[in-house]
Parts: sequence; structure tokens; C-alpha cells
Amino acid sequence: MRRPDLRDKTAIVTGSGRGIGRAAALKIADCGARVIVTARTENQIDAVAQEILNQGGDAKSIRADVSREADVHQLFEAAGNVDILVNNAGVIWPIDLLANSDPAAWRQSIDINLTSVYSTMREALPGMLTRGWGRIVNVSSGSARGTVAGWSAYSAAKAGVEAMTSVAAREVADSGVTINAVRPGIVDTELQVEIRSSSEEQFTSENVERYRSYPDRGLLRPPEHPASLILWLLSPEADNVNGELLVLDDPDVAARVGLTPMGR
Ligand SMILES: NC(=O)c1ccc[n+]([C@@H]2O[C@H](COP(=O)([O-])OP(=O)(O)OC[C@H]3O[C@@H](n4cnc5c(N)ncnc54)[C@H](OP(=O)(O)O)[C@@H]3O)[C@@H](O)[C@H]2O)c1
Repeated sequence: MRRPDLRDKTAIVTGSGRGIGRAAALKIADCGARVIVTARTENQIDAVAQEILNQGGDAKSIRADVSREADVHQLFEAAGNVDILVNNAGVIWPIDLLANSDPAAWRQSIDINLTSVYSTMREALPGMLTRGWGRIVNVSSGSARGTVAGWSAYSAAKAGVEAMTSVAAREVADSGVTINAVRPGIVDTELQVEIRSSSEEQFTSENVERYRSYPDRGLLRPPEHPASLILWLLSPEADNVNGELLVLDDPDVAARVGLTPMGR
């Protein structure tokens, strides 16, 4: 993959205080973009922004809870013109069988994982369309289709993200703006730690055994892998890619960004 030249671009990467978002923010900054590092935990976003500055890049940390419409609006007001939006913020919780689940937690998960993607795209699109260039990458999950007991909110939200990506991509066709979704595979982040700490009552003994086995079996990808796929979507090679779902566990997709497939 040729490294994209992102000088003069501003990128917002949601959920960039750690994990996949942090890795994406670092790679995007390394290509010259000014990166807005955002999430709820202030010390994490400050540390990532500082890391970028220490490496000679340009970054600013802005605290925002993406499930809150007002926070999202303020984030975009503070950012100025946004050319690149990576919708990465997400939570796996609540992990609970549907019959035992808490409706308030369920709705909050949908607000974080799905409604936020609507809110940020709604903020970003007018400016991108006026300027005739924009890149939006929405981070989905294999569980949008390959469902897991206990993950009703997460799976429903990610299926919604994929459907909304497809709708929004149609709406911007031939405008210079592209909107795509990625499934990162199973990645070594806090989110997987949370999954491994869930109990049999929350998501069945079979799932507990399966997810707890991944580290020993060497099946967790580093966050830099999905970050490379996100970066590829910002490169000229992907200029004509719009409305696609790119699955990192697909060997062809992995090869396109210079990665090897992970067998599971
Ligand atoms: N790890 C995997 O195996 C995997 C697989 C498939 C898809 N994904 C997706 O990848 C994305 C990144 O996850 P990750 O694995 O890197 O997990 P992570 O390490 O837990 O990072 C999640 C990020 O999202 C932020 N976030 C959560 N709720 C937020 C909110 N309400 N407002 C703003 N930011 C919020 C978190 O920061 P704060 O808590 O400080 O706000 C954190 O920076 C998610 O969309 C996830 O669904 C991950």
C-alpha cells in the first residue's frame, strides 16, 4: 500500500484514546493530517494527542461522548473543516442474554454504537459535499452477521451501521465523498478483555471458552492491522471505493493492505 499524503486534511477519529482508534489516529497523523483525538476519558485522549505531537505531527484532543448530540455538535464546531471521519467509538456492553437484559443499558449501547454514527455523519457531510472531498470510515464488526448470544444490542447496532453506511454511500455517489465500513477481525484491545471477563450466564459457556482461548491460540490481531485497513481507505487506491464493507479476515482484503490472513 502506498502511504497516502494527508497534509492539509483534518481527521476526526472517534474513540481514539486507546485500541483501534488510537492506532488509526497515529497512522493518519503520520501521513500528515491534523488529527482530532476524541473519546470520554480525558487522560487517554490527551496522551494520544501528545504522542502525535512528540512525533512531529499535528493533533488536538477534544473530549466528547458520541452518544450525546450536543457533544457531537460541539466537537465538529471545535474541529473546523473535517475531511476525514473515522467512526470507531464503540462498546461491547451490555453482554447479557436478551431476556435478562436492562432496557436502559441496551438503548445506551445503541446510542453509542449506532446513533453516534448517524450524528457524526450528519455533522460531517454538508462540509465534505460542499468541498467535493471527504472520506468516512465506519468501524463495524463480524457480529453484524455472525451473531453471538448475549450481544443483542452490539450486533443490532453494527448491522445498523453497515446498512446506514450503504444508504449514505448511495446518497453521496459521484460527489468526491466516499463512505465505507470495515470489520476489523478479533483485535487485542480493552474490548476483548471485557469479553473475556464475561460469565457463562452472560453469554453461554461455549462463548466463554471460545473467546478466552484466543490469546493462547495467537488469534488476536494487533490494533495496527485494522488501522492499516482504515488508512488504505484514505489512500488514492481507494478513491473509487464507496459503499463497500471491507472484512479484514477476508484474505483478499488483508493482502490488499499487505497483511496476512488470521486462521480461526
Ligand atoms: N477489538 C475487537 O476485537 C473488535 C472487533 C470488531 C469490531 N471492533 C470495533 O472496533 C471499535 C474500537 O474498539 P476497540 O476494540 O479498540 O475497543 P476499546 O479499546 O475499548 O476502545 C473503544 C474506544 O471507544 C471510546 N468510546 C466508548 N464509548 C464512547 C462514547 N460514548 N463516546 C466517545 N467515545 C467512546 C473509548 O473511550 P472512552 O471509554 O474513554 O469514551 C475508546 O477510546 C469499536 O467500534 C468496536 O466495536 C472491535
